[in-house]
Amino acid sequence: MNLCVLGAQWGDEGKGKIVDLLTPHFNVVARYQGGHNAGHTVYVGGRKFVLHLIPSGILHPGVICLIGNGVVVDPRALFAEVDELAGMGFDVRGRLFVSDKAHLILPYHRELDILSEARRGDRKIGTTSRGIGPAYEDKIGRRGVRVGDLRDTSADGPLVSAVRENVDARNRLVGNSEMKWQDVLADLRTAWVRLEPLVTDVSLYLSRAMASGQRVMFEGAQGTLLDIDHGTYPYVTSSNAIAGGACTGLGIGPKTIGAVLGVTKAYTTRVGEGPLPTELLGEMGERLRESGQEYGASTGRPRRCGWYDAVAVRYAVRINGLDALALTKLDVLDGIEALEICTGYRCGGEVLTEMPGDTAQLALCEPIYETMPGWSEPTRGVTRYSDLNANARAYVRRLEDVTGVPAAIVSTGSERDHTIIRDDSVAAAWFR
Ligand code: IMP
Repeated sequence: MNLCVLGAQWGDEGKGKIVDLLTPHFNVVARYQGGHNAGHTVYVGGRKFVLHLIPSGILHPGVICLIGNGVVVDPRALFAEVDELAGMGFDVRGRLFVSDKAHLILPYHRELDILSEARRGDRKIGTTSRGIGPAYEDKIGRRGVRVGDLRDTSADGPLVSAVRENVDARNRLVGNSEMKWQDVLADLRTAWVRLEPLVTDVSLYLSRAMASGQRVMFEGAQGTLLDIDHGTYPYVTSSNAIAGGACTGLGIGPKTIGAVLGVTKAYTTRVGEGPLPTELLGEMGERLRESGQEYGASTGRPRRCGWYDAVAVRYAVRINGLDALALTKLDVLDGIEALEICTGYRCGGEVLTEMPGDTAQLALCEPIYETMPGWSEPTRGVTRYSDLNANARAYVRRLEDVTGVPAAIVSTGSERDHTIIRDDSVAAAWFR
């Protein structure tokens, strides 16, 4: 069975670890959206790997990793990551492929991202400044440059005119400095030398792989509440991070997805601007940030921390059709006396049990909490559910009740083996 693994909160849920853990049971891992704004962290044998663009399955030799058409690719970031992996002993040759339909992030996209944030002032999104939004803008505006366009760099070809027009537009917007389209083109020609052997028709590759019985894992980036359509717009990223994004971002039919696993922390975090109803601004927020090491894997920015928001996760269950949750960072809650779970919002005299679609309304919502006892016995490194202390088990059970889906995987630390796999659950099939 194929499996889609995605973020069921505001990103940074620990998808990297979960994808890495599941990879030995799959033949192919395919990223379907986002770009190097993502930071998927994997710890193996005490070594830390942060993957931004390359699927988190790459650390397993023999597994094929695909970057789909829904991803925006900055060639510099891609090659930096390939080189870093090579330096750590991981050769990606022959097993990393990129869709010819993926759009490129070019130098002006990064600049325009920063400029647009500055212009928004107080209304800034808090982007990762990686050029993600402007690259997707060009895609939707039908003026973007795709990986496959680099095949033809002839003077009268479509690539040259697109680069020329886009750089001209950038020069009009930026004003104080001139970018030369010839320089951008020269860099693209250089990039093509390394890109060409990686380029493939990802949709066709997947269709053939699945027809021959191979199992595929679809890897999402960011999270459901950052989705361009279903997230807390406009405080979102510019792609479809939800399960549906796997179809458009890879060129596969919806029935091929199989199961959908949503990753959530045992609490909530968010980086960047926008509403976060359960945010803790005082000492407890600081405590979660420090014990959870809640600093952005890509940007190093401190993450905003809060209690588990079951309203938001229930929303993710609905939008993605989640079969189960992977609950990460349970150990970060060790030693906290009492834990709060948000089960509803109070908003303008009303009680809401569903996520409001209006972001301004969400910003005014107050969480309604129920309190669970914490625990003092450490859960860190526990690998069997029955070895969790009773209060930790009760907390997990309550999260399952209020979200309506089983916690099939519970992560109790950063290493691969700091994990509980509930083999009495739906997860058993994925580990076969
Ligand atoms: P962008 O994707 O760089 O345009 O940023 C848009 C919003 O998504 C900002 O709030 C970012 O902090 C957030 N964001 C983007 N990528 C990630 C991620 O991988 N994890 C968490 N937040 C992210």
